[in-house]
Amino acid sequence: LKPEYFQEVVLNWQAQYGRHDLPWQQHITPYKVLVSEIMLQQTQVKTVIPYFQRWLARFPDIASLAAAAEDDVMSCWQGLGYYSRARNLHKTAKYVVHELAGEIPKTPAELREVPGVGPYTAGAITAFAYNEPGTIVDGNVKRLFARLFELEGNLNTGARHRELWELVERYTPTTNNRQFAQGLLDLGATICTPRQPRCQECPLQLKCKAFSHNTVNEFPQRFKK
Ligand code: ADE
Repeated sequence: LKPEYFQEVVLNWQAQYGRHDLPWQQHITPYKVLVSEIMLQQTQVKTVIPYFQRWLARFPDIASLAAAAEDDVMSCWQGLGYYSRARNLHKTAKYVVHELAGEIPKTPAELREVPGVGPYTAGAITAFAYNEPGTIVDGNVKRLFARLFELEGNLNTGARHRELWELVERYTPTTNNRQFAQGLLDLGATICTPRQPRCQECPLQLKCKAFSHNTVNEFPQRFKK
């Protein structure tokens, strides 16, 4: 499967069928991308939306978040769960404001130096905020690639995860990164779903190894934690 073909398919699908109306896609700023990506890490889009909007009303920019009291930060996150995300996001904001003059870095390498920003968030900020090449591997992307290539074994182990990362990197374009990243996530979230994926609507159906072997439900392979 040629990367150029894959990119064209994902971009065309995104333009026609992907989501364009999410609140963090409007008047995009690096700060909005940071906040939304942290909220979306363990939480579904429809749950995140009202929290994201309240958060932006309360902390409209990174300076206001950095200056906020911990209690206010935690109470604004109340109900969203995984509260270490809120504490880390607060830390990230303080670091960016005090050490980086308020500028969220652009490249994945610089972003990974920021406390609270992991490899996924670094790639997501690069792609969504700056429209530059950033590799993103989350659960959606993992599932889509595992099926497309029938990747066997436990993709969460260090070595296999690195391989998967490098594979996704090879398929990541050098332009249109924002639309490509959104297309990958939206394909994973709406078509290549964990259960009862909508293969008949998938633009990659004819290229998908798991579809051609009727093994879609066997990938990604599951292992005990
Ligand atoms: N999950 C993670 N990032 C997302 C985004 N930008 N849009 C939709 N779902 C997401």
